[in-house]
Amino acid sequence: MSKTGATQVHLFSGWRGHEREPVIGDVYNRGNVSIHFNHAEKLYPDWPTPTCIISDGPYGVSGFPGDNHKAESLAEWYEPHIKAWSQYATPETTLWFWGTEVGWATVHPLLISNAWEYRCCNIWDKGLGHVAGNANTQTLRKFPVVTEVCVHYVKAAVFKVGNQSLTMQDWLRHEWQRTGLPFRLANEACGVLNAATRKYLTADHLWYYPPVDAFVRLAKYANEHGDPAGKPYFSINGKSSISGCQWAKLRAKFTCDVGITNVWREPQVSGSERIQGIRSGMKYKFSSLHGSQKPLKFIDLTIRASTGKGDVVWEPFGGLCPGAVVSHYLNRTYRAAEIIPEFYSAAVERLAMS
Ligand SMILES: C[S@@+](CC[C@H](N)C(=O)[O-])C[C@H]1O[C@@H](n2cnc3c(N)ncnc32)[C@H](O)[C@@H]1O
Repeated sequence: MSKTGATQVHLFSGWRGHEREPVIGDVYNRGNVSIHFNHAEKLYPDWPTPTCIISDGPYGVSGFPGDNHKAESLAEWYEPHIKAWSQYATPETTLWFWGTEVGWATVHPLLISNAWEYRCCNIWDKGLGHVAGNANTQTLRKFPVVTEVCVHYVKAAVFKVGNQSLTMQDWLRHEWQRTGLPFRLANEACGVLNAATRKYLTADHLWYYPPVDAFVRLAKYANEHGDPAGKPYFSINGKSSISGCQWAKLRAKFTCDVGITNVWREPQVSGSERIQGIRSGMKYKFSSLHGSQKPLKFIDLTIRASTGKGDVVWEPFGGLCPGAVVSHYLNRTYRAAEIIPEFYSAAVERLAMS
């Protein structure tokens, strides 16, 4: 369990305790961590380039104010956001897309058509406690649902060759072929028996991203031994080859501790981590403020996996902004948006107290 996962979050009553209700344009900053009271789509152009985007927006289950009523309308709702994420992301950016299974399935084709590359579907298994034996399966006519998904995408690098757009795998082959050298010499370039042609220059699904040292060796060899007329090889700007540092930035970061899988077993947020409050104008008793509050543990896991110190995290649909608490502890730059006053104010108070 990480430091943030163990954080004690104070219970408080939401926006009632604040001097005034927030107005659109308000922003709360704690160091490099900022929570905006605004529509995320208005803020993207001014936010720093994201290393990681945590999307936990509408689910299509009427789960919180403003949630869509049906999953079918989700793709249309998400479209402007996904287009903006694609515009501002780089090949270093990871997207964590939270949703229900069917909600995600509905939006997935849109993500793919906007150049997000699918990596993995992580499943939050909330366990039997989530239904607490209350599910009447004879009425529901299905097995009780105790899961949500957090789907992992990356913004794959695209290489322009003439008017063609190539994937990294195709571009590496294309560049080597341009040299006029046989593929087997890539092994000599990398100082390996056959791994370079088998892994880095293959056209099949067993392709691997060449690590920085392998890429640098391939580029150096190609430029020294390839057809002089085609130089420079492995270049984006047509003037020099991509350096090792530049190559490292052409894919998203990822680190994972041993023992973690794509099934995340954790009960619904409860106890001192669950933010309590009373919704304005409603006669609710003091209870859970936000219906879809995410465990800090998962936000911590995804931010650690996909970013390093100083990197930028976006949480466009902030809710209670768990990413703000985690980013504060992990020294990430963070930007969030939220449009419901109670949620914004509670998120601000949560960050201020963390
Ligand atoms: C599923 S909740 C996020 C819950 C959050 N992950 C948490 O743990 O508290 C989605 C939130 O997005 C907010 N929202 C919806 N549309 C938005 C928009 N265009 N800009 C900013 N926030 C928005 C909603 O008010 C809601 O609180």
